[in-house]
Amino acid sequence: MFFLTDRNMSTTRRALSLSSLCVLLLTVISTVGAASNTAIGSFVFGGCSQLKYTPGSPFENNVNSMLTSLVNSAMFSSYNNFTAVGDVPQDTVYGLFQCRGDLQSSDCASCVTRAVTQLGTLCIDSCGGALQLDGCLIKYDNTTFLGVEDKTVVVKKCGPAVGYDSDALTRRDAVLASLGAGDGGPYKTYRAGASGNLQGVAQCVGDLSPSECTDCLGDAIGRLKTECGPAAWGDVFLAKCYVRYSEGGVRSQGGKDESDDTNNNDDEVEKTLAIIIGLIAAVALFIVFISFLNKLCESGKGSK
Ligand SMILES: *[C@@H]1O[C@H](CO)[C@@H](O)[C@H](O)[C@H]1NC(C)=O
Ligand SMILES: *[C@@H]1O[C@H](CO)[C@@H](O)[C@H](O)[C@H]1NC(C)=O
Repeated sequence: MFFLTDRNMSTTRRALSLSSLCVLLLTVISTVGAASNTAIGSFVFGGCSQLKYTPGSPFENNVNSMLTSLVNSAMFSSYNNFTAVGDVPQDTVYGLFQCRGDLQSSDCASCVTRAVTQLGTLCIDSCGGALQLDGCLIKYDNTTFLGVEDKTVVVKKCGPAVGYDSDALTRRDAVLASLGAGDGGPYKTYRAGASGNLQGVAQCVGDLSPSECTDCLGDAIGRLKTECGPAAWGDVFLAKCYVRYSEGGVRSQGGKDESDDTNNNDDEVEKTLAIIIGLIAAVALFIVFISFLNKLCESGKGSK
């Protein structure tokens, strides 16, 4: 019980705990800050080809130089394609990235950098891979897919049904029609539309021609209508284009999905929530701890 009467010891302990708590609080606060800035970096889907290459092979060098090219190029454009030609045809690697058309180049670059990092850990030694984040898509393979229209459904997610609200359906159809009919406006491959507070975005990969893009978006819109029904929000990602709509633009990632074909990052909000609850708990603990220390000091003084 010596520490009860040792004022210095207790002061040292308090100082130590204070500084470590401060470090903890700063860590928590910076984590919350980082989490709130991940909207364009939110994971949508990722996939790897079954085929594996031999580590240390020329093919691996080409994959790495391809991924580096994507990162470097994303600072200057929102779409680009690359071909890393091998000494033998089997070593050639094809790749592209496509940022959401409304992103600043700095956001595009950081999105592609993030995607390349994630794909590197997701598709170790894979001959091909693709990763879609909220703000960008990257893809590479040893068979060429550049300029090839591909309407394979990759992700289809529908929000809860809105019931028999004909107004909501009218707004949804208006938004989807504007996305389907748009000529691209100021952007070649990106379209945005709104009706009331319902907003929609559509994006094609830049290797599609305008008519292929319209065709691809038409497919995605058709699926949203037939497969999501009267849903509050919907996402359809095909291999070369996507269409999404939701209330108020940014959909809460914490919403529960009615149907979910692939994994997604709905945990993001829950994670942030957990961090905030942790923060509150830490402050509460801190207060309890301080009053406990005060009591100890007080009884220490008393016993003198
Ligand atoms: C792609 O890589 C796999 C595995 O190395 C190989 O079997 C296949 O022939 C390659 N395809 C082409 C088009 O080179
Ligand atoms: C690939 O990039 C080259 C050079 O930037 C460009 O000329 C070509 O049209 C692109 N091909 C496709 C399919 O996008």
